[in-house]
Amino acid sequence: MADYPTTALGCLPALGWNSWNTFTWDINESLIKDVADLFVSDGYKDAGYEYIVIDDCWSLKERDENGRLVPDPAKFPNGMKAVADYIHGKGLKFGMYSCAGTHTCAGHPGSFEHEFEDAKQFAEWGVDYLKYDYCFKPRHVSGELLYKRMSLALKNCGRDILFSACNWGEDNVHDWIRESGAHSYRSTGDIQDNWESIKRLALSQMDKKAFTGSFCHNDMDMLVVGMHGGSNSDWIGSGLGGCTDTQYKTHFALWCIMGSPLMIGCDIRKATPFTKELLQNKNLLAINQDPESRGAYRIAVEPNWFGKDDAFVLVKALQNGDLAIGLFNFTDNTRELTLQFWDIGLPYQSGYSLSLYDCFTDTDLGMFRERFARHVPAHDCVVVRAKLTR
Ligand code: GAL
Repeated sequence: MADYPTTALGCLPALGWNSWNTFTWDINESLIKDVADLFVSDGYKDAGYEYIVIDDCWSLKERDENGRLVPDPAKFPNGMKAVADYIHGKGLKFGMYSCAGTHTCAGHPGSFEHEFEDAKQFAEWGVDYLKYDYCFKPRHVSGELLYKRMSLALKNCGRDILFSACNWGEDNVHDWIRESGAHSYRSTGDIQDNWESIKRLALSQMDKKAFTGSFCHNDMDMLVVGMHGGSNSDWIGSGLGGCTDTQYKTHFALWCIMGSPLMIGCDIRKATPFTKELLQNKNLLAINQDPESRGAYRIAVEPNWFGKDDAFVLVKALQNGDLAIGLFNFTDNTRELTLQFWDIGLPYQSGYSLSLYDCFTDTDLGMFRERFARHVPAHDCVVVRAKLTR
């Protein structure tokens, strides 16, 4: 175990649920309460998920006469404090959404030039997490400055609020976001509930591994695991047919090993046993929540006639000396993927072997001395936790 407090705000990637991927504008108090109930009764809370986040479309289109944001009374008739109290009553945390621009992406009021009063308002409502978007940013104002502004406002609002920046990887965000004070930052465009989108987002982050770490995590966007085309937005995926369970498995493994925050995006009221088990896989979650939050590096694998984007290994160094190792097959055929231990810093002459534990089947695979090879079906992956053993 780490001998420092990983419970400090933003130290580890956030785990939770967000309303956007499935529900977009169609959100309300009873949905949020259902999710909070299920977090407790269906094991999500015990697995480590804690934030329940309401995304865009929660407010009226105008501020009130005092310049305050107004929750839409048709969706949240008891206001946001009541929602926060309910979520807190379950031992969970409450997240909300605003935008660095004049309006949110769906055209509701943004926090531009209202940062300090909005942060105070969120604190009064009992908010623990703020996702902060990038639509309708005035062209003449620097985004970097606006994230610094909101970060300062949140850090001084009198409440611990995790700051989740969401500028889609624009404006070289990785160069300046950590110093702004944000705890995570979206470094990709929006995910869609299909395999092409999962591959594209994952590959786009391979060279960003140096820019993720404790207290400022690279956010690859919310999970589409278990959605199966169930969004009410055509763009996110209602028209795309969703993914297979194998593809969702690979998606989850990638987001875990690459250290992204994990915000569930499906309707967990309808989650299949497979979806639930995947989202609650304790071995994968432990890799994602490793106390040191190191990025994962990629190794091209033998046989090397595939492009490196088709089949590869990701390796993440863990705090206790273990390695998380994922073999990923993005091709449409089964492939035998071979990892040579030399490539991860373990020469044969060291005298060490790796004792491998399969994170999906929960089984010991035994000791391996020089290499590890597996036939990986199309779009599938194998994830092991490796321990050095003499
Ligand atoms: C996008 C953002 C999405 C969602 C949406 C709401 O900019 O990337 O995750 O928040 O806005 O309108």
